[in-house]
Order: sequence, then C-alpha cells, then structure tokens
Amino acid sequence: MAEIEYKRFVDLVELSDYAARLCLVQAEEAVAQRGRFLWVLSGGGTPQRLYEQLVQPPYRERMPWEQTFFFWGDERAVPPEAEGSNYRQVKLAILDKVPVPASQIYRIQGELPAHLAAADYAAQLHSLAQVWGEESPFPTFDLVLLGMGEDGHTASLFPGSVSQAERTQPTIAVTAHYQNRPAQRVSLTPLLFNQARQILFLVAGANKAEMVAQILTEQASEDLPASRIRLTNGQLTWLLDQAAARLLP
Ligand code: 6PG
Repeated sequence: MAEIEYKRFVDLVELSDYAARLCLVQAEEAVAQRGRFLWVLSGGGTPQRLYEQLVQPPYRERMPWEQTFFFWGDERAVPPEAEGSNYRQVKLAILDKVPVPASQIYRIQGELPAHLAAADYAAQLHSLAQVWGEESPFPTFDLVLLGMGEDGHTASLFPGSVSQAERTQPTIAVTAHYQNRPAQRVSLTPLLFNQARQILFLVAGANKAEMVAQILTEQASEDLPASRIRLTNGQLTWLLDQAAARLLP
C-alpha cells in the first residue's frame, strides 16, 4: 500500500487547517495548469469546519472561486433545501458566501428518485467531459474530499459485496441506513473516484479507529468500501485525528 499516505493531527482543528492549505494549493495548481479547479465535496460532519474555514481569510480571498467547479461525491435523496441535503450543507457554508458562478455548481438532484438522479448526474458529467474535450468519458477531478463511516462506508458506497452496478457504472442509486440519515442515496463510484488527481479522506473520532486500522494496515477486504478507493495515477491521502489514528502503528 505504498501509494497511500496518511497523516495524523492532534485534533479536528489541526486536521482542518492542513486540509484548507491543501485545498488552496491544489486549486491554485489546477487553475494554473488547466484554467479550472474541479472539486468534489462530501457530506457528513467532519468537513464542516474545513468548509467554514475556506470562506474566512486568508482562504476567502485566495481561493480561485470563479474558476472552481463544484461536484458532490454523494447525495441523499432529499430536496436541495432539506436539512439532510449534502448540497445544502455546502451552499450554506460556502456557496452563499463566495462568488462561484451558478453555472459551475453541479449538484446531484436529490429531489428526483435516486435512480433518476444517478442517471442524470452521469449524463451531466459525461457532457461536461465532452464539452471540455477530455480524453476519458468523464471529467478527471482535481480534488475529491471523502469521509468514512465507522462501518467503512465512504461517499454512499456501503459495506457488502461490490454490486455489478458499482463495478460498471459511474453513478449508482443506493439504499442504506446509517445514523438516522436519509436512506435513499446517490453516489459516484470508484470508476470515477479512482481517476481523480487527488483524494483526501477526512476522518476523525475514536469510533472510527478500528476501521481505519483495518483499512490502512491490513490487507483490507474489498467488502469495505473505503478500501475500494485506490487511485490509478493520483495521490491518495488520509488525514486522521489522534483518536481515529490511535490503533495505527
Ligand atoms: C454522506 C457522506 C458520508 C460521510 C460519512 C462520514 O453523505 O453521509 O458523504 O460518506 O462522509 O458518513 O460522515 P461523518 O463525517 O459525519 O462522520
């Protein structure tokens, strides 16, 4: 697993500071090289502090918001104004506060039945790749943020054997129960995630320590979704707080 790097931090504050710096570096580099920054965000509580930090100085002024394209790694099948919406979380924390052109916000349509939202998102991504003249059928994301649940799920890819759809489709509809969050979901699949230039896992909390240790130190089972994230060419980095890293060597 030489290609996976992990870094530990005293707490979520330090972890988020580091993640904010990394987002800025990655954004600046993407804009310098390709004129735009393709950024995939995650839901969950862990990235909230990072999101809030990025709209504060010095990031607020330095992030290339007008060249940033927003995507989501997963979404719950709820309307965009509903409490459980991953889009809403980012809208309130970031999009309402900085000058991102509306045409650069690619949300998953949670108000649709999940299978339709999944198909619609795949089509949107495919046509973007065509417009941009990308070699592959879908955009190559510059930075993907992911979280991990204590059961090893990531985005909305949940434990269990890998479905045929996940192996073959860019997006899938999923039904999964986790912490009273909405059960109908849409997720990108490793087919897209694993082509990204960089993926950052943000993981904090003692309840995740066992799963972190399984995924990062053992020959992790493919049944654990976080272990299915393996980049083809890019950089995969896990940012862990002390509690989540406590069982690592
Ligand atoms: C979601 C997420 C999900 C999340 C993990 C971790 O939509 O629920 O994208 O994969 O990242 O459940 O969530 P926490 O950060 O709240 O632990």
